[in-house]
Amino acid sequence: MNVRSNPVRQRSCASLAFAALAILCSTGLAHATGNVARGQMLYKGCADCHAINENAVGPMHKGVVGRKAGSVPGYDYSADLKSSGIVGTEDNLDKWLAGPQAMVPETKVFFDVPDAQDRADIIAYLKEKAR
Ligand code: HEC
Repeated sequence: MNVRSNPVRQRSCASLAFAALAILCSTGLAHATGNVARGQMLYKGCADCHAINENAVGPMHKGVVGRKAGSVPGYDYSADLKSSGIVGTEDNLDKWLAGPQAMVPETKVFFDVPDAQDRADIIAYLKEKAR
């Protein structure tokens, strides 16, 4: 047992733990972590107008995370959403769900999800189930 190496080990361990915490904190601030099971439950509210695999009142959600907004073939989008150029990143989906009209003023959807955790859960669900 080499006694003199102990303080060194402790220091590097503490700084590793600190770095891990810093990463956790910074990602935690940027994004609420989504819960897929809760998202599935909340998606029932979307299902009045949307389905994963077919167009309904709203466009199908298959592949919605990462696809270009207004791009589902055969769905009759508002001209504004169709030409918005928005890409469905998680950030943009979060903004969209928080208030579609703020992003696309002439959109034909009037539905929003005011709670940030609810939005994160719904997006987690879409990421998992609507790939
Ligand atoms: C009252 C009906 C209605 C509800 C409820 C609704 N939407 Fe929509 N949604 C629409 C319509 C209509 C559009 C198309 C808007 C347009 O063309 O301007 C749309 C568009 C979208 C788009 C853009 C898709 C694309 O292909 O560009 C996303 C993403 C979306 N909705 C997600 C959701 C989610 C998630 C929920 C549930 C939290 C939800 N919507 C609830 C009617 C609804």
